[in-house]
Amino acid sequence: MPDPLRLGIAGLGTVGIGVVEIVVRHAELIAARGGRPIEITAVSARNRSQDRGADLSGFAWEDDPVALAQRPDIDVFVELMGGSEGAARAATEAAIAAGKDVVTANKALLAHHGQRLAEAAEQRGAVIRFEAAVAGGIPVIKTLTEGLAGNQITRVMGVMNGTCNYILTRMEGAGLPYAEVFEEARKLGYLEADPQLDVGGIDAGHKLSLLAAIAFGTRVSFSDVELEGIDRVSIDDIRLAADMGYRIKLLGVAQMTGRGLEQRMSPCLVPANSPLGQLEGGTNMVVLEGDSVGQVVLRGAGAGRGPTASAVMADVIDLARGTRLSTFGRPATSLAAPTHAKAMAPAAHYLRMTLQDKPGALAKIATVLGEAGVSIDRMRQYGHTDASTAPVLIVTHKTTRDAIDHALKGFAATGVMVGEPVALRIERV
Ligand code: HSE
Repeated sequence: MPDPLRLGIAGLGTVGIGVVEIVVRHAELIAARGGRPIEITAVSARNRSQDRGADLSGFAWEDDPVALAQRPDIDVFVELMGGSEGAARAATEAAIAAGKDVVTANKALLAHHGQRLAEAAEQRGAVIRFEAAVAGGIPVIKTLTEGLAGNQITRVMGVMNGTCNYILTRMEGAGLPYAEVFEEARKLGYLEADPQLDVGGIDAGHKLSLLAAIAFGTRVSFSDVELEGIDRVSIDDIRLAADMGYRIKLLGVAQMTGRGLEQRMSPCLVPANSPLGQLEGGTNMVVLEGDSVGQVVLRGAGAGRGPTASAVMADVIDLARGTRLSTFGRPATSLAAPTHAKAMAPAAHYLRMTLQDKPGALAKIATVLGEAGVSIDRMRQYGHTDASTAPVLIVTHKTTRDAIDHALKGFAATGVMVGEPVALRIERV
């Protein structure tokens, strides 16, 4: 019988316990697939006495995750604590320094420190795998790093925050305003401790930056992700977008352009009948495009015990098999520093505004658009909510965000605008 692969698991929350359960429940299956048994040697968490609903008595306990990471009787440090700094960072660094392989679900840690950690791991001959960090149970890292390794990747897109997709689809389904659904999500326990990580697009932005590094061979560059959250998406926009055949998604897009790497995470309109448009509730979807393969669409649970633990175990079993890949699919020292390109790829845009209902108001808006070089594709004026204002919706032909921003400034000077106009990109999917 070959030697077992010995795990040290730091973090016994939802995902940590999910991993313990799989290791115990599928011991035989995993040993058969990995070619050797997989055992948990030791675990660590903040509170030893907490009842976690799993029998942990057979594992050594460490109060300090750094001590766990350095134990001579573990081969793989499984980091499931989360957070870009503090214990997670210290313990991961300690594990690498001790020559251990690392499996982590920590997108924030890798988004902020991935390059340095990857270089350190490669120097020590250690491996970092992070399937669980991006889109939960969806095997997107494996697909991109291995399955599509023969492609030049042209674009990566994704709905990678289930909480935001839950909020947006629930708003639409129940006709509820953002604030009410946000509260509902909080009560259901869907939101991160800092909800801005979800609704501000930060969590999804972390994930996008990791995918971009693999896809384009660039150093992880989270600070260059243009971030816009969903907190300003109104039920009016959701309804009107639907009326024009679209749905609003918090969509991440990364693509390499002639000017450099574009990475943006923002609310976008997508066709309602596209795979992304049909994505409901807390589910995630990642769309990968390669020059040879065309488009690959992956859909699945982006969070939760089973799906995230499934992804962790895929990495662990790969290590048991002896699969040793570079963190971002090529040696970390060969990753290029990306040139950040402001998101400029032209796209159709959705514009919603309320105008004073008086002669010439619409003409002024049309003139501003014309002067900004923005061409109108479709336009609707809706029934008046009061006698003096008119809600107007415009879908433009392809144009740049600069041209849209120019038009928005021009709108303000017309004197016919009531309140702030809304401008959202319509992504070609
Ligand atoms: N909070 C995330 C989500 C899960 O809602 O998708 C962890 O990344």
